[in-house]
Amino acid sequence: MKFGRKARASEIAQQYADNIKGKVAIVTGSNSGIGLQTAKVLASHGAKVIIPCRTMEKARGAMETIKKDYPQADLVPLQLELDSLASIRAFVKRFLELNIRFIC
Ligand SMILES: NC(=O)c1ccc[n+]([C@@H]2O[C@H](COP(=O)([O-])OP(=O)(O)OC[C@H]3O[C@@H](n4cnc5c(N)ncnc54)[C@H](OP(=O)(O)O)[C@@H]3O)[C@@H](O)[C@H]2O)c1
Repeated sequence: MKFGRKARASEIAQQYADNIKGKVAIVTGSNSGIGLQTAKVLASHGAKVIIPCRTMEKARGAMETIKKDYPQADLVPLQLELDSLASIRAFVKRFLELNIRFIC
């Protein structure tokens, strides 16, 4: 299936809905723009979506926004500053501690 450059995330996700349900997605930049929309669409199709943002406040804000449209969304807020290797390591540690089955 080919999508034009104006294809909406929701149209693409609909096409792959069977593959999205039950998967785990880590969506960086999920508090705004493309990241927020991606997180929302994946959650709307039943993926568990990790919401890593620079601050927990931003992550919780993104969760609120997504849950307004999809109250059943399965979302996990975490802190992640991609400019910092220490923050990336801390994020990985917290993510692994959640024991979420994750296939790359
Ligand atoms: N190829 C294309 O056609 C196309 C079209 C549009 C966009 N893009 C690219 O896609 C990307 C996203 O675009 P957008 O419009 O969604 O941008 P945006 O609204 O500015 O979102 C960027 C996201 O990344 C986060 N972020 C930035 N630096 C970070 C860091 N060091 N650690 C953690 N999070 C960080 C921001 O968090 P904060 O809110 O904390 O800053 C924000 O959530 C950009 O790189 C843009 O250039 C490409």
